[in-house]
Amino acid sequence: TPTLNIALLGGGTVGSQVARILTEDAEALTGRIGATLQLTKILVRNPQATRDYQLPAEYYSDQVDEVLDGADIVIELMGGIEPARELILKAIAQGSNVVTGNKALLATHGNELFEAAAQAGVQLSFEAAVAGAIPILRPLRDSLSGDRVTRIMGIVNGTTNYILDQMDTTGASFNDALAEAQRLGYAEADPTADVGGEDAAAKAAILAHLAFHAPFTLDQVYTEGITEITDLDHKVAADAGYIIKLLAIAEQLDDPTGVVLRVHPTLLPREHPLASVRGAYNAVFVEAENAGELMFYGPGAGGAPTASAVMGDVMSIAKRKLRGGPGRTHTARRELDALQIGETTTRY
Ligand code: NDP
Ligand code: HSE
Repeated sequence: TPTLNIALLGGGTVGSQVARILTEDAEALTGRIGATLQLTKILVRNPQATRDYQLPAEYYSDQVDEVLDGADIVIELMGGIEPARELILKAIAQGSNVVTGNKALLATHGNELFEAAAQAGVQLSFEAAVAGAIPILRPLRDSLSGDRVTRIMGIVNGTTNYILDQMDTTGASFNDALAEAQRLGYAEADPTADVGGEDAAAKAAILAHLAFHAPFTLDQVYTEGITEITDLDHKVAADAGYIIKLLAIAEQLDDPTGVVLRVHPTLLPREHPLASVRGAYNAVFVEAENAGELMFYGPGAGGAPTASAVMGDVMSIAKRKLRGGPGRTHTARRELDALQIGETTTRY
């Protein structure tokens, strides 16, 4: 069986779950694509630390070159801008395809990364960057590309939805609910961007980029988080028949150049469909001229749900590579050629 080498940058909440899937589901994954997805190394800060899913010690390294060496696919799950940006550029330059869940990086340096990937002829995939397990980016980019999207509105940050839900339903304090969201692996390493709305704003920029076919960045999004919301706000809202949700909204105005992007707490009637989105779940409404109204719903954060989206991108890249698609001249292609196995032996 041909082999595709996978390097993982980051072995935290999401990276550990990707490592688990690549290890425990290896046989099933191989059966689906007709190639072995070989996890080679995992870049971490502290190779000695205990992991949520623990592999033998030789998998972990703090040496970038050792981890990137020979990778057909590089999965970036470190978070933050640097060194994630520099390492993705390095991976692209060596001809590796890249999968990332790093919305903060994409919403600030996306253009640079996409241009580098296009020039190198490799793929840069990022389904995990928006709304965790929910397949929302591929439908926007592919399924709806022949339609005209007019509006996207949704709950795209699991941490803040979890906090607001806990405050509303159990009377938990903001700080206790945030601590629990961190413990459950929903929050960013530094949760400031979650509660401040910037994480949702980054996602709004990415969604708008795909929906409106033009690049948008984080600084184009009006952003207001949930840090000012008090117990009293929840009580007053509930008494009046409303619930407080942090919404991300991207609207195409009639003027074709006009797109408005905003993230802010919103009062929703309790019977509104988004009012019933609980815990760290996300939901995204999409309105398109011909399709009408679509709703996407599911787990928006957490290790395993996000790893599911990452693995979808990995599998998609692997299938394309096995058909001779973009990326470095990899072992799989060489082995396929050597064995004179044609495309028809690749299973889907
Ligand atoms: P974690 O903080 O849990 O994990 C980060 C990992 O990267 C750790 O293993 C850490 O090493 C490693 N790392 C960080 N910086 C460096 C560095 N400078 N050099 C080497 N290794 C480094 O983050 P998450 O798994 O929660 O998130 C990862 C990415 O996925 C982020 O971009 C996040 O925004 C995104 N994401 C997260 C979701 C979630 O629900 N958690 C959902 C969707 C996307 P060490 O362990 O040794 O410290
Ligand atoms: N911190 C993010 C959230 C992770 O809470 O939604 C998923 O992108």
